[in-house]
Amino acid sequence: MLRRPVAISPPCRGNVNRMNLSALGNLSHRLKLVGTLPPKLVAAKIAKRLPWSNKRAVRIAEIVHSPKDREADRLLGFFRTQESFLVENEGWAPIDFTGRNVLEIGPGPLGGLSLMAVFRGAERVYGVEPDWVDDVLTDPAIEDAYLRPHHNVLSAAFGNLMDYATFRTRLGERLKIDAVGLSDATPGFAADIVLSNSCLEHIGDLPDALSALVDFTADDARHMHLVNFGNHRDREAPFATIYEMPPDQYRLKYGAHINLLRASDVFAASASAGLGLSMAIVDQPVEKAEAVDLHPYWRDNYEMDDLAVRTALYFTPMSNETESPIP
Ligand SMILES: C[S@@+](CC[C@H](N)C(=O)[O-])C[C@H]1O[C@@H](n2cnc3c(N)ncnc32)[C@H](O)[C@@H]1O
Repeated sequence: MLRRPVAISPPCRGNVNRMNLSALGNLSHRLKLVGTLPPKLVAAKIAKRLPWSNKRAVRIAEIVHSPKDREADRLLGFFRTQESFLVENEGWAPIDFTGRNVLEIGPGPLGGLSLMAVFRGAERVYGVEPDWVDDVLTDPAIEDAYLRPHHNVLSAAFGNLMDYATFRTRLGERLKIDAVGLSDATPGFAADIVLSNSCLEHIGDLPDALSALVDFTADDARHMHLVNFGNHRDREAPFATIYEMPPDQYRLKYGAHINLLRASDVFAASASAGLGLSMAIVDQPVEKAEAVDLHPYWRDNYEMDDLAVRTALYFTPMSNETESPIP
């Protein structure tokens, strides 16, 4: 596979006409998305933008009415599928969280996999999530809609490791999530385990952020990062729109929601950061990439097998030893 690093253009700025075009392109795209969401979620999203709204309350309403965020076993399902994939295909050993320091990048509005890490005995867990709302997990609406059901899911998956009251207390004591991006993380520990699910593709300054990550990661840390290289809109046509235009034009039309790096770019960025990660391609539907009328930018800079990677895992390869014991 070609590993040709591609520079990411900075977001357009300073040109009023281009900014107006961007706003219009994004507006029509957003209006289409709104049609697919539950009405209460749309109401919360509108309320969030009103200058007089109580930002925290509307953000909580937004989370409570989001069927995706509320699904109690969604992220655990992803984690287990990814881990099994690496166990079967890459000789991985399942991660043992007991006594470990864990860092999650972009856990999402409800703390993502970090809750599982606490449940499974992690010593300290730190997340970086730009959209984080402080104290969200102790909000009564969120407790009912998510935290209790999630505790049930974790107990069914891993056994009755702790009752709900202990889980809630441990989250308060051991989990900290800061509303910042990865480049501004301050975990206060060297992470033994670093996780992310569908997040690295959203980080605009990924090469710099990965270089920063090395500074708060233990030398023998275990990483598992699932990256989704599709357009995040259409499962049937994951590369449509992306490969039809150069990156600058895509950002004008759809916004900077994804960084448009390809699988080889993320691998190269992790290698130059010194993270020592391997890449396992999970899903590579070549026919879906070939179905797109490729703009020369993509044809000239990438091989088809790179363009066809929809999802890949970036992970720490196992050495011959098993996991080192807690000192
Ligand atoms: C597609 S969501 C995934 C959330 C969650 N991991 C999941 O799988 O549901 C991507 C997440 O990355 C977060 N994110 C964006 N830029 C980030 C950054 N620079 N550092 C950390 N997280 C970031 C977003 O706020 C968002 O919650």
